Amino acid sequence: MKLVHRGTSGRLPTSNFDLVDDAGEVLGFAQLRLRPSCNADLPPEAGNNIYYEISEAYRGRGHGKALLRLVLNEVRRIGLPHVRLTVKDDNPTSRHIVEGAGGILVGEFMARTGELYRLFEIALGPAGSAGGDR
Ligand SMILES: CC(C)(COP(=O)(O)OP(=O)(O)OC[C@H]1O[C@@H](n2cnc3c(N)ncnc32)[C@H](O)[C@@H]1OP(=O)(O)O)[C@@H](O)C(=O)NCCC(=O)NCCS
Repeated sequence: MKLVHRGTSGRLPTSNFDLVDDAGEVLGFAQLRLRPSCNADLPPEAGNNIYYEISEAYRGRGHGKALLRLVLNEVRRIGLPHVRLTVKDDNPTSRHIVEGAGGILVGEFMARTGELYRLFEIALGPAGSAGGDR
């Protein structure tokens, strides 16, 4: 299983990655924004750096955890000291993954759509330390 960098572009800028298994199958993808941002439904303070997703057919097999861990390794490599992610209230699976990767709750935001989002921050240490390498 590996992370394949599909490119970096945009104003922020944003790097796009695919999670690819040994057979070359794409299991999911992730976006890493070097500067936090969020969509217009949320206030700017809810800005976040990472979105990650596993294709429906491959969920529940540990790939989400693996994907976030690989992206955090990439964050470490780039040298960002911490990253933020937002997790919707109705997504306990992602909350579990993010907290397991060292995510600390730093804020709660009600979107204009009425949905509650929680903002988590993960501090990155050297490879092997706490913060996503578990
Ligand atoms: C969130 C998502 C990436 C998870 O991917 P996944 O491959 O199914 O996740 P994994 O199999 O690696 O891990 C699931 C973990 O959540 C746990 N989990 C599952 N359902 C849960 C629930 N209702 N409450 C708490 N934890 C739950 C599992 O037990 C497992 O943890 P464990 O290994 O410690 O037991 C996937 O559901 C997805 O792509 N969703 C749509 C996009 C999305 O929500 N992205 C995240 C944006 S913040």
